[in-house]
Formats: sequence, structure tokens, C-alpha cells
Amino acid sequence: MSQPLLLVEDLSLKRNGRQILNRVNLSVQPGQVHILLGLNGSGKSSLAYTLLGCEGYVPDSGRILFDGRDLAGLSITERARLGITLAWQEPARFEGIPIGKYVSLGMKEASRDKVSAALEAVALPSKYYGYRSADRTLSGGERKRVELAAVFAMRPRLAILDEPDSGIDILGLNDIAALIRRMASEGTAVLLITHRDEMVEAADAASLMCAGTVLFTGSPAEAREYYANRCTPHLEALGSQPWDPSLPEVRQALASNGAERLARKEG
Ligand SMILES: Nc1ncnc2c1ncn2[C@@H]1O[C@H](COP(=O)(O)OP(=O)(O)OP(=O)(O)O)[C@@H](O)[C@H]1O
Ligand SMILES: [Mg+2]
Repeated sequence: MSQPLLLVEDLSLKRNGRQILNRVNLSVQPGQVHILLGLNGSGKSSLAYTLLGCEGYVPDSGRILFDGRDLAGLSITERARLGITLAWQEPARFEGIPIGKYVSLGMKEASRDKVSAALEAVALPSKYYGYRSADRTLSGGERKRVELAAVFAMRPRLAILDEPDSGIDILGLNDIAALIRRMASEGTAVLLITHRDEMVEAADAASLMCAGTVLFTGSPAEAREYYANRCTPHLEALGSQPWDPSLPEVRQALASNGAERLARKEG
């Protein structure tokens, strides 16, 4: 296999004294869609912010290699220059900036046609949206689509998409999945963060995040099965995250990975 575009090794992060990431290991191949599934509070966005180099997200240990280069000490801007981009889970709104302008900001050679194509790719007709302001009057789903259009337009080497499917209606999910495949076919590797396991259909590889760590990496189909059979029982048994890994029942659940329940189901 070729050298991974992104290689995360034993990455740990504490915030306000709490262990948020705990020895995360993950790799994304060039041009691959890698889905990262995990329940609320499992650490997915925190991992995204750490990869991006956001303020306050300096890892305590471990490494992030991008195309073989260690990202330690590089700012958000330097990482963006290398080709790492994030579509935010909760994109901000901007008064006074037309949507077309916002989408063109990260483009190498912006043109009206390219902006229109990016908006059409997220099913926002540029005729209606291109000159509209990216402000608070946009609905949540519209704002998410604009954010995706902007990332698509940038043609980054790695697009981290933090729940691009949240706030998108069920019919729109196919548009999002198609856009993600299109990004990959045009050379952008995608780290697709979500808790909707049906999005595995758009992925080439999959990992599961739980209690701040990556528990499992494998094929999308295996990850979906693992999620349904093992993660859901954890949630039922332990309540919503965050789970305190120092509690014996949490340690036991993480160690068993729901094996008992799985055995019962199969038996
Ligand atoms: N500054 C902080 N101080 C303390 N706890 C924090 C801090 N930032 C994040 N957390 C906690 O870290 C855990 C992981 O949060 P994160 O936002 O990464 O989860 P997530 O997997 O993205 O969840 P969701 O699916 O809800 O978006 C949560 O329990 C959150 O409350
Ligand atoms: Mg999140």
C-alpha cells in the first residue's frame, strides 16, 4: 500500500484536565474516503480540531504525519497551505459576504463558472444562492451545503468533513454521498466524520471512535456491523458519553467490545 496521506500515531489530548483523546491511531490513504463513526461525545470533533491545529488542541503526546511530514508546531494556516481543510460541524454565518464570494475564497483560480459548479454540486442553484448573503437568514441545512461547496471548490488534498450529513434532509443524503465520492475521484482524500452508519456506503475504509480512542479499523461493512452490534449495546448499558475510562464498568465494556451481547445475539 502507498504511503498514507494522513497518519495519526498514538495521539493523546487533555483539555481542562480531561482526557479527550486517548492514544488515537488512524491512517487515511490518498484519494480515499475514510469514515470515522462514533457516538456523541466520543471525540470526533476534537480529533478534527487537533488535526487542523486549532488553538488549545495541541496534543500531549503522539504524532500527526501528513504526507510523511510531522505537523507538530505548524499553524492552521500552514496546515491549510499543505492542503488540509475542515468543513465545520457548526459552520459560522457571515453578514455581508455573498455566498458565491465565500465559496470562491479558497479557490486557486476562482471563476464564476467554478463557483456555480460547486454550488450546483450541493444542489444550491447559483442563480438563487450565488449573490445571497451567507448570513443568519440561511437555514441550517443551506449553511451546511454552502460549507461543503466551499471545501469542494478548494480541492484540498485532505478534506475533513465534520458531520456533513447533520441537518441535511434524508433525500439530500444521496447528494452529500455523491459529492464525497466525487471529491475522492478528483483526488481529495476525505475523512468523513459522522454518527450515521448508512454513510458507510460512500466510504472505502472505516474506523470507529469510542471514549476518545479508535477502537476498530476495517472495511465499511465490518465497521457498520461492529457499530450496530457493539457500540449500540455500550450506549444502552452505560448511558450517553462521555464515559469515564477509570470506572470499572467502562473499562470492562471497552475491553469486551460488547462480545457477550454479540454472543447472546448469535446464540
Ligand atoms: N474544553 C473541554 N473541556 C472539557 N471537556 C471537553 C472540552 N472539549 C470537549 N470536551 C469533551 O470531550 C468529549 C468529546 O467531544 P467532541 O466534541 O470531540 O465529541 P464528538 O464525538 O464530536 O461528539 P458529537 O457527535 O456530539 O459531535 C465530550 O465529552 C466533550 O464534552
Ligand atoms: Mg462533533
